[in-house]
Parts: sequence; structure tokens; C-alpha cells
Amino acid sequence: MDFYDVVKKRRSYRAYKPEMPEKEKLERILEAARLAPTWANLQGVHYIIVQKPDNIKAIWKAIGQETKFIEAPVFIIGIISTDGSGINKSGEKYYGVDFGICFEHLILAAATEGLATCWIGWFNENEVKNVLKIPKKYKVMGLTPLGYPIKPKGEVKERKSIDEIVHYEQF
Ligand SMILES: Cc1cc2nc3c(=O)[nH]c(=O)nc-3n(C[C@H](O)[C@H](O)[C@H](O)COP(=O)(O)O)c2cc1C
Repeated sequence: MDFYDVVKKRRSYRAYKPEMPEKEKLERILEAARLAPTWANLQGVHYIIVQKPDNIKAIWKAIGQETKFIEAPVFIIGIISTDGSGINKSGEKYYGVDFGICFEHLILAAATEGLATCWIGWFNENEVKNVLKIPKKYKVMGLTPLGYPIKPKGEVKERKSIDEIVHYEQF
């Protein structure tokens, strides 16, 4: 699939078929995340893959959005340490940016493989960390179910127009 088709086809899915995605697809998706650029190539993001049904149930419970979703066969949880990236000239830590780039690589690669995802940012971090035994210094920045969608969606949800968001020369 052409890159622009992938970008148009990627949507947030909240209903998944129970069938497990092929191992090679999962490996290619993780490879796409591995190749993402990061601050000074620090590569601070780690990925936890959860496939055991009991563990997936525990994750959904920790997220607290079970009623909105139909369970997926795989869960990918992205974490990064707060010192896993750089600090910019304004003194701001950049780990969130590194994380976003890596996780979006993963999400777009999944779309390329015909698989569904939904970036989840609303969850109880302490509970997720407890369930997955994540060391204290890491932050859970994003999670996504992974699987085949029950019903494919159309391309791209409504978005602001280019005129509203693009500024030439000055704001
Ligand atoms: C950082 C981030 C956090 C999100 N968190 C949630 C979430 O907690 N629950 C949810 O159902 N969707 C979540 N979404 C999905 C957005 O609602 C969705 O991307 C947006 O409505 C656009 O729809 P689309 O992804 O189908 O194009 C999140 C998306 C992003 C990028």
C-alpha cells in the first residue's frame, strides 16, 4: 500500500475479531517502531506485547474503557523512562515526542498490514504498571489493541481544513 493510502486508511477501531494476527505481521509492525527516529538515537521506548486472555482482561480493567471496546486478541503497551530522551533548550523533556513518533510508526505499520488499532491515552497508569510489572522509572504513554477489525471503516474521519491549520511565512 502506498504511504498516503495507509495514512487515509488508518482509523481508530473499537471492535476486533478474536482471531490472532499472524506472527510475521506483528514482527514487521514492531520492526517499523524499532526503526523510528528518536532524540540522539536514544531509542528509549519499550513495547510490551500481551496475548494471554487473562492478562488482556486485566489490562482492559486497568484501562477502564471496557464498555466502549470489543476485546482484541493482542495488546501493545508502549512505555518510556522520563530520562529516556533529551531535554530541549526550553528545559522541556522530550520523551513524549520520541514516544509519539515510535508509537505512530507502529500504528501506521499495523494499518499497512490490514490490522486495526486504537491509540488509548485514557487509562489508570498505576493499575497498568501493576498488572504488567513495569519498573517505577517508566511511564506508560500509550496502549493499543491489535487485531482484525470486525467492520472496516471508511477513510479518514472529518478533519480541519488545510486553511485552518497551515500558515505560510508567519502565524
Ligand atoms: C494520543 C491519543 C489518545 C487517544 N486516547 C483514546 C482513548 O483513550 N480512548 C479512545 O477510545 N480513543 C482514543 N484515541 C482515539 C481518538 O479519539 C481518534 O484518533 C480520533 O477521534 C480520530 O479518529 P480516527 O483515529 O479514527 O481518525 C486517542 C488518540 C490519540 C492520538
